[in-house]
Amino acid sequence: MTNQPMPGTTAPPRPGPTLRCIISEAAIEGAVADLGRRISDDYRGKPLTLLGVLTGSIIFVADLMRQINLPHKLGLLQASSYRGSETTPGPLTLNLDLLPDVRGRDVLLVDDILDTGRTMQRLMQEIRDRGAMSVRCAVLLWKKSRAVVDLQPDYFGFEIPDEFVVGFGLDYNDDYRHLPYIGVLESRE
Ligand code: IMP
Ligand code: MG
Repeated sequence: MTNQPMPGTTAPPRPGPTLRCIISEAAIEGAVADLGRRISDDYRGKPLTLLGVLTGSIIFVADLMRQINLPHKLGLLQASSYRGSETTPGPLTLNLDLLPDVRGRDVLLVDDILDTGRTMQRLMQEIRDRGAMSVRCAVLLWKKSRAVVDLQPDYFGFEIPDEFVVGFGLDYNDDYRHLPYIGVLESRE
């Protein structure tokens, strides 16, 4: 008797997901510098608080704040509407435990992407309800064609087509956030 597998019992190797870069690291760097300049001009002399939306905004907000040459505070909150390997939004879960006092502050919410817009619309209302002086939003990416609510980003880096993207903080099943560029995941397991 040999130890050969029975014919037909081993699965053929499956190709892994492939990534197609649509926004390079250099292009992101340029866009973040532009946004930083505009935000610095717009908020000069104002009590600015950046509020990063965890988890997807961490890389964008860290880079953006270093391009804002004004004193400002940083707060964080958590929002998630994706479950595991799903790429369509599920119910929105918010965690505001880390939120600083925003009363009297000019708040700029910072997220990775504006997709349907539901997350940002809800967050902006929560922050207004907590007494902020003004509330605006900045996103790196805007999937304009997917909007289901009447909300345009006050600041955005790139408008992108309706494709599922990863990198620079954006994930698929909590992976790929570390990529320094934005890529489309061509085939997923
Ligand atoms: P919205 O409420 O539909 O605007 O969803 C916004 C959130 O969905 C973002 O903060 C992202 O975390 C996630 N999201 C939307 N589109 C993508 C994508 O293409 N790749 C990864 N995450 C996405
Ligand atoms: Mg997110």
